[in-house]
Amino acid sequence: MHHFDYRNGSLFAEDVPLSRIAQEVGTPVYVYSSATLERHFRVFCEATGAKPNHVFYAVKANGNLGVLMTLAKLGAGADTVSEGEIRKAIAAGIPPERIVFSGVGKTEAELAYAVETGIYQVNIETESELDMLSAIASARGKRQAAVFRVNPEVGSGGHAKITTGDSANKFGVSFQEAERLYHRAANMPGISIQGIAAHIGSQITEFSAYRAAFTKLRGIVENLRRMGLPVSRLDLGGGVGVPYEMSYPYRHGPDTVQAYGDMVREVTAGLDIELGFEPGRVIVGNAGVLLTRIVHTNHRADRTFLIVDSGMNDLVRPAMYEAYHEIWPVTEPSADAKPTPFDIVGPICESSDVFATGRMMAPAKPGDLIVFKTAGAYGASMSSTYNQRLLVPEVLVNGAEYAVTRPRQTYEELLGTDRKPPWL
Ligand code: LLP
Repeated sequence: MHHFDYRNGSLFAEDVPLSRIAQEVGTPVYVYSSATLERHFRVFCEATGAKPNHVFYAVKANGNLGVLMTLAKLGAGADTVSEGEIRKAIAAGIPPERIVFSGVGKTEAELAYAVETGIYQVNIETESELDMLSAIASARGKRQAAVFRVNPEVGSGGHAKITTGDSANKFGVSFQEAERLYHRAANMPGISIQGIAAHIGSQITEFSAYRAAFTKLRGIVENLRRMGLPVSRLDLGGGVGVPYEMSYPYRHGPDTVQAYGDMVREVTAGLDIELGFEPGRVIVGNAGVLLTRIVHTNHRADRTFLIVDSGMNDLVRPAMYEAYHEIWPVTEPSADAKPTPFDIVGPICESSDVFATGRMMAPAKPGDLIVFKTAGAYGASMSSTYNQRLLVPEVLVNGAEYAVTRPRQTYEELLGTDRKPPWL
């Protein structure tokens, strides 16, 4: 479900025509829909039965201030993986007591910041992190609430590069070590050990791996409790997938999230534990599009390239994960327009700067606007200035109004970040 639809032949985000945003803000630009974000967050809470403050939105998916503020207002928590993300979440109005801190390589400085800020939970991923955290907290006369991220040795995901729960993946303490480490943590001065966590991968739409992993986690919880150790929290991570391939008209309901919620209830039934979730993509993926303009066409004997003004630096998913993003023209094609294959490419000097190959589309020409759909997650948050291009701007729509929540970088800002070496 989302709020990007054609009205009188023109594509709108809620009540704002995308052509207006293109004209006033320029392209490329990310456009997000508040109504879609709000709906996805509510649907997730309802399907899982989770309290909003135990749904820790994964900031890495989209850390835009407007997006975070919209979710903060709904009572959401935040899953963060760096000091920068913690700071951003707090700046958006998500209080520390709704923030969890994950990540395999947390530094001493980052852990100290997290402890001093008083965040809800640190998800510990290694034994050395456990020792470091305990020392940091006890030196400050504190006990930091923490859980162990366990590697359940069950991975899943839409692509090998986004699977995290395999034993070959770097994430989490090993399944075999979990109980020993938990026992240790329970006796450490700076740690208040609360439970366990897992995150097995991303873009998961088939739930058998989840079921297997969560069943293993349940087994650990029961074992720990049998050993007399208190376990009050179970953080199930993120990973629920979204439909990237859907044709207009878009009719995807909340079935996937409902099925996920049902599976979670089933696997955790009777466990009497506080459940936490870290969804990213499922909240924000379909709430955003990348609006871009065709600048040139290049006709070859065997194909036609449409060259657009966004590149892999703005949306890296196709180049990095062979990801599929639907492409919709901003002006709705007439019913009799004959679809033709196009290769849609960006301006970056790399052969991998390709958004789609042989994509069937209504005829298009330079000057036309198109959108890459389902670009709200891992789009702007993974963007860069590669090729010395300006960082892509972001816009948040709310009904009939919109705000530029990150303006396009200026060339002064781009060049101003560098410093001359004194000897030159
Ligand atoms: N929790 C942890 C510990 C994570 O590592 C992640 C994502 C999430 C939660 C949120 O997962 P989600 O619900 O969004 O699937 N850049 C890739 C996705 C990388 C996901 C990394 N971890 C992509 O564009 O597909």
